[in-house]
Amino acid sequence: MTGFAAKVIAWQKRHGRHDLPWQGTRDPYTIWIAEVMLQQTQVATVIPYYQRFLKRFPDVAALATADLDSVLAHWSSLGYYSRARNLHRAARIVVLEHGGRFPAEFTAVSALPGIGRSTAAAICVFAFGERRAILDGNVKRVFARHFAVGGYPGDKPVEARLWRRAERLLPKSGIGAYTQGLMDLGAGVCTRGQPECGRCPLRGSCRARQRGLTGKLPTPRPRKALPHRATTMLVLQHAGEILLEKRPAAGIWGGLWCFPEVTADEPVEQACRRRFGARVGAVAAMPAVEHGFTHFSLTIQPQRVRVSGLEARAGEPGTIWLSVDDAQSAAVPAPVKRILASL
Ligand code: ADE
Repeated sequence: MTGFAAKVIAWQKRHGRHDLPWQGTRDPYTIWIAEVMLQQTQVATVIPYYQRFLKRFPDVAALATADLDSVLAHWSSLGYYSRARNLHRAARIVVLEHGGRFPAEFTAVSALPGIGRSTAAAICVFAFGERRAILDGNVKRVFARHFAVGGYPGDKPVEARLWRRAERLLPKSGIGAYTQGLMDLGAGVCTRGQPECGRCPLRGSCRARQRGLTGKLPTPRPRKALPHRATTMLVLQHAGEILLEKRPAAGIWGGLWCFPEVTADEPVEQACRRRFGARVGAVAAMPAVEHGFTHFSLTIQPQRVRVSGLEARAGEPGTIWLSVDDAQSAAVPAPVKRILASL
């Protein structure tokens, strides 16, 4: 065992986290759900979602037989909804192709949708005790600093160097404590903004620290100005209810319920009449809401529309009138939830 791994393991046992809700089990299903939720979301945010999700979908069969809408509703506001769609698809694959048992083999785990190399490794470590290397964003930071690896870790050649490091450092035994220790160090000690080197078990051998590079590593993503988009959403209100529209499966927020969007070329009154059979009373702008995606930022201008009457007609497919409370617990994206909360 290298000194590196031994120090991480000893530190994890004394100072690491041992009471997270997805620890203390070897059930690959629950470990998988946790690892996917933790891909882009912090532990504190994940915990309540994880608990609610498992209550509703306690095993692969429950997830596979659920409809996607219900899965998205339980995911609501965690963002990156492709994760929820992939979980649902993967659960169906487990049922159809693996007889309902989560696969216990790294290659089969990695082949499931939404499970990359690091997530597959984490599942195989925690569920099966396999000796596998992980490399998520936090662990990249620990390695980039400890070995003074420059270059943006999202760039393929830099990432490949870090993977080679990760593979070489694996201990012969204690893979669970080692893997958890790297995660715990990355999340709680070797943090992005204010690393607490005084508490780090690796401070004696950290090259970034020796060279005064802690604040410079890992090299940040080369900044491209993110494109910006703007949209107008209509908050139609009638008899204590608001109107939501299901978004097409492809594109942002695919399959989620959202306020209807309008383009500037059609007057609001006309659009409401044509699309929803709604006669419009007053229209008033609400405060704009900003939302950041990975690849662009979005400004939403909500327009509150008082509906004075509805034409009697069959409801448009893909639209629904809901109370504000019911809308809050539907599969709606985070900014829609925020607008609902302000009503
Ligand atoms: N981040 C990713 N996986 C994690 C885990 N199992 N525990 C804590 N943080 C994590």
